[in-house]
Amino acid sequence: MSLQGPKTKEFFERAAKVIPYGVNSNFRYWGDEDTLVIRRGEGAYVWDMDGKRYIDYRLGFGPIILGHAEPRVVKSVQEAITQGTTFAWTTPLEVEVAERITRMTGMDKVRLTNTGSEATMHALRIARAHTNREKFIKFEGCYHGQVDYFMYSTASADKRMLGSRRSPISAPTTSGIPKDIAKYVINLPFNDFERLEETIESQWNEIAAVFVEPVLGNAAGIFPLPGYLEKIRELTAKHGIVLVFDEVKTGFRLANGGAQEYFGIQADLATYAKALGNGFPVAAIAGREEVMSTIEPGAVAHGGTYSGNTAGVAAAAATLAILEEEPVIETINQRGQALMEGIDEILTEAGIPHVVTGAPSMFSLFIGSDQPPRDFRDYLAGDGELYEEIAMELIRRGVQPDADGREPWFLCYALSQEDVAETLSVFNEAVKAAKK
Ligand SMILES: Cc1ncc(COP(=O)(O)O)c(C=O)c1O
Repeated sequence: MSLQGPKTKEFFERAAKVIPYGVNSNFRYWGDEDTLVIRRGEGAYVWDMDGKRYIDYRLGFGPIILGHAEPRVVKSVQEAITQGTTFAWTTPLEVEVAERITRMTGMDKVRLTNTGSEATMHALRIARAHTNREKFIKFEGCYHGQVDYFMYSTASADKRMLGSRRSPISAPTTSGIPKDIAKYVINLPFNDFERLEETIESQWNEIAAVFVEPVLGNAAGIFPLPGYLEKIRELTAKHGIVLVFDEVKTGFRLANGGAQEYFGIQADLATYAKALGNGFPVAAIAGREEVMSTIEPGAVAHGGTYSGNTAGVAAAAATLAILEEEPVIETINQRGQALMEGIDEILTEAGIPHVVTGAPSMFSLFIGSDQPPRDFRDYLAGDGELYEEIAMELIRRGVQPDADGREPWFLCYALSQEDVAETLSVFNEAVKAAKK
């Protein structure tokens, strides 16, 4: 049964005539029958073209930390843009946002940009310029945006191409990348202490950076094993390698200070986007003074016509103010904890082997085993099909996580206890329907 009602279908068909596959990002295409067209969002809900309401756990792939169309964020943007949007000069709002970001994250300096991909692309350049080395390490299942260098062994890469754990291969996620780029990228299985140490100790003088999503926000919220992030920190510090926490998903979500605060580890650079602007395009590269000062006009480039544009920055100013002044993360964590426990109980009663992974503000369900996945390879051995069936039954009933189990359930501040209760009741029905 298609997810599309008649009006949604009509608009999807119009979209598909003029936009390849009817979507402006490949991840949004769920097939011709199940790709939705959304008319509006408010708080924790979205409505499709047929007026069907969903409790939204996709939240635009994570940015909506407060809720859709949060009135104070909307007002901040409305007021700011009446004064103009982009001037090719610094604005007071940029100063305010940079002060908030540095205060909240503990970083010394920050440059603003528009998207997560731009932030990671610049972070890689800064790390290379800072170290005068060209290679970098990333981890299988981690996604760092649409930059060619990062498009290897992401959660969308062909699993048969990953090679063995002992000698991983960088598996391209897409056609269209020059073959030679692969020689700059070292992909390692996450949480493998031995492989990490061996790689860094043998090749450190060629490695500019280690990029890591501190929690695998694109691979079922897999958590670092105790001591793993510390090990990365220790080895990178020892060899002058720039440690980059890609906090595009974890930033302003795991804690106000993101994964750095949550795990008590200081990275050299961190990239932020998503929750920073509650859905507006604004992103940041933040870092220690010594590394950020590598950016130097005429020597090491960072630029962008829309970097620091008023709409994004006004959204960030309002979002960060609310995060600093109200118990946003605490409230989200309470709701998330209740959901994680409730879902765990329902799946246990249904006799479905599973592990609830991740943190309450971004959790995932690993179906098919009782053993927590250590890395993306473990995740692939789970029962992704059963997860998808449960997710589709949920969506038909008005609760919308991603149908792809690699994408976590994201929570927002607007989600109420009643929404949690409704979600659990629908989850119970969905599991029964999927088992049939
Ligand atoms: C960890 C991480 N880094 C980078 C990106 C890229 O961000 P954007 O889609 O804003 O370019 C994403 C997007 O999902 C992400 O999850």
